[in-house]
Amino acid sequence: QRKVIIDCDPGIDDTLALMLAVQAPELDIVGITVVCGNVPVELGVENTLRCLERCERLDIPVYQGAASPLKRTFVSAQDTHGMDGLGETYFSRTSEKTVETQDAATFLAETFAKPTDISIIALGPLTNIAQALQKNPQLGEHLQRFVSMGGTYKSHGNCSPVAEYNYWCDPDAAACVYEQLSCMIEMIGLDVTREIVFTPTLIEYCKRINPEIGQYLQAITRFYVDFHWQQEHILGCVINDPLAVAYFIDPTICTGFKSFTAVETTSISMGQTLVDRYDFWQKPANSKILTKVDTYSFFGKFLAVILHAQEELIQT
Ligand code: BDR
Ligand code: CA
Repeated sequence: QRKVIIDCDPGIDDTLALMLAVQAPELDIVGITVVCGNVPVELGVENTLRCLERCERLDIPVYQGAASPLKRTFVSAQDTHGMDGLGETYFSRTSEKTVETQDAATFLAETFAKPTDISIIALGPLTNIAQALQKNPQLGEHLQRFVSMGGTYKSHGNCSPVAEYNYWCDPDAAACVYEQLSCMIEMIGLDVTREIVFTPTLIEYCKRINPEIGQYLQAITRFYVDFHWQQEHILGCVINDPLAVAYFIDPTICTGFKSFTAVETTSISMGQTLVDRYDFWQKPANSKILTKVDTYSFFGKFLAVILHAQEELIQT
C-alpha cells in the first residue's frame, strides 16, 4: 500500500475521487485536507465527512484548510456543483465525526518536516499546499510524488479561454507551488480529464452492476450533467479528479512529457499554465504534463473499485 494525503474541495468529482481513493486496496490514506474551491471550505469538509461515512472510512482524519485564496477574492464553483457541492442532493449524515484540531497547512508542513514515504494528490486549488510550503520550504523534498489535477496544455480552459478552475481560483498558490515545490509536479490537466466523460450510458451501467451505488452516482451527477449540456453540449459529465487518483495508482493510465511550467497570476489570462515544452526559457523541468489517457483502463479501475465489482466484469 502506498501512503497518500488527498487535498480536495468536494465537489462532485472530488467525491468520486475520494470514493476511489479510500476504497482502493493499493492506497493507505494518511489524511484528507480540505480547501475552499468548488464550495466554501466548511461545506467541503461536510461533503468529505459524508463521503467517508458512506464508504465506511470514518477512521481517516480530516483537516480543514484555507477559507480563501492567498490573494484573490474567493469564487466558488457552485454553479457547476450545486449549492451543496453535491448536485443539490442534500444527503444527510449521521456520524458525529468532526475535523482534527490542527489546520490543513500545519498538518502538511509537519507531516513533511522530514523525509517520508508519503505522496500528495491535490484535487483542488493549491492554497493549502502553498501555505504549507510557506511554513515548510522543504516539503517538496520530503514527499514521494505530487500529483495535481489542474491546468491545461493544449485544451481550452473551463474558467476562461486559457485557464482551468483549480489554478484560476488561486493562481498565486498555483504559481507558488510550481515555482517553489522542489519535486516534479505531475499535472493531470484538462487535456486528459476532458476524455473522462461519465455518460448516461455508463451511469445506467453502474445501476445494473450495483443498484444502490449506481443510484447514488446518478443522483449526485444529475446537476453536473445538466451543467455540461448547457455549457458545452456534452452528454454526460467530465469527471476530472478521479483520473488523478487512478493515475497515481497506475501511472501507465496517462502518458506525457517533462517540461518547465509557470502559472500566470495577473491579467485576463490568470491561472493559465505556460508549458515550455520546447525549452525556450532553458529552465529545468518542474512538471510532467500528462497529455494522453487510456480511458478504458481508467473506467475499468474506477468503476470496479467504487461499484465493488470485479475489474474483469467492467466493460466500458
Ligand atoms: C477542477 O475544478 C473543479 O470544479 C473540479 O472539482 C476539478 O478539480 C476541474 O477544472
Ligand atoms: Ca476538485
